[in-house]
Amino acid sequence: MRPFCVVGSAGTVNTGVVDPLNEIANIAAEFDLWFHVDGAYGAPGCLDEGKKLLFAGLELADSVSLDPHKWLYVPVDAGCLLFKKDAAVRAAFSTEEADYIKTHGYTDEEAFAFWDYGVELSRRFRALKVWLTLQYYGSRRIAQAISEDIALAAYLGELVSNANDFELLAPVELSICCFRYAPQRGMSDVELDQLNEKIMETVQKGGRAYLSNATVNGKFALRACITNFRTTKSDIDETIAAVREAAQNLK
Ligand SMILES: Cc1ncc(COP(=O)(O)O)c(C=O)c1O
Repeated sequence: MRPFCVVGSAGTVNTGVVDPLNEIANIAAEFDLWFHVDGAYGAPGCLDEGKKLLFAGLELADSVSLDPHKWLYVPVDAGCLLFKKDAAVRAAFSTEEADYIKTHGYTDEEAFAFWDYGVELSRRFRALKVWLTLQYYGSRRIAQAISEDIALAAYLGELVSNANDFELLAPVELSICCFRYAPQRGMSDVELDQLNEKIMETVQKGGRAYLSNATVNGKFALRACITNFRTTKSDIDETIAAVREAAQNLK
């Protein structure tokens, strides 16, 4: 049983925190391990000037998973893997055995076949929408939208921290804010978990805002993940209002 790979997170699903990628990269290099970074949600956050340092070491990854359908605003689904060197990937996934997947008589570029780099054989042309989005908006416009999402999550974090009836459950690092409704009358953690779960259901069914959930240090958290370029400050205010309203109606 020999480890061969170490995986760091560039934006966790629950709270959006980023691992110390440089430190992990050093360990991977020391022990000759493949260094993969899961940036499915969070990697585009590195486009924000204020967050660049957080992602130091991302460039050392051997591979990065990225879901452009999350924070690059591309329609579902468009999951992709970015590889630094393709030889190892090709060695793992390509096969010379089947005639019908061989490419004949083309230059290297023309003969590129995605099936040599992953498990899918028949596959849709997912790259088109990613390419089109990048071509049409450009990285500067996308970076601006990402920075706006980050600022909105921070704004929600401030609203929550400054309110007497809310509790921030994790630092807001990227565009995710985890919080709970916690009125001051002494409720236990179990009661707060139950109340917040009901609040989430009510808000989701209400259709004004959408919150998912996460467990943070054992507590049920309402999780706002802002990955829409159309979200505004008033949507954030509306979300807080919807949570308060749901809580009032549940009393
Ligand atoms: C950080 C992270 N990694 C991996 C995944 C899984 O990606 P996919 O749904 O594209 O398989 C998700 C979310 O779905 C995610 O947020």
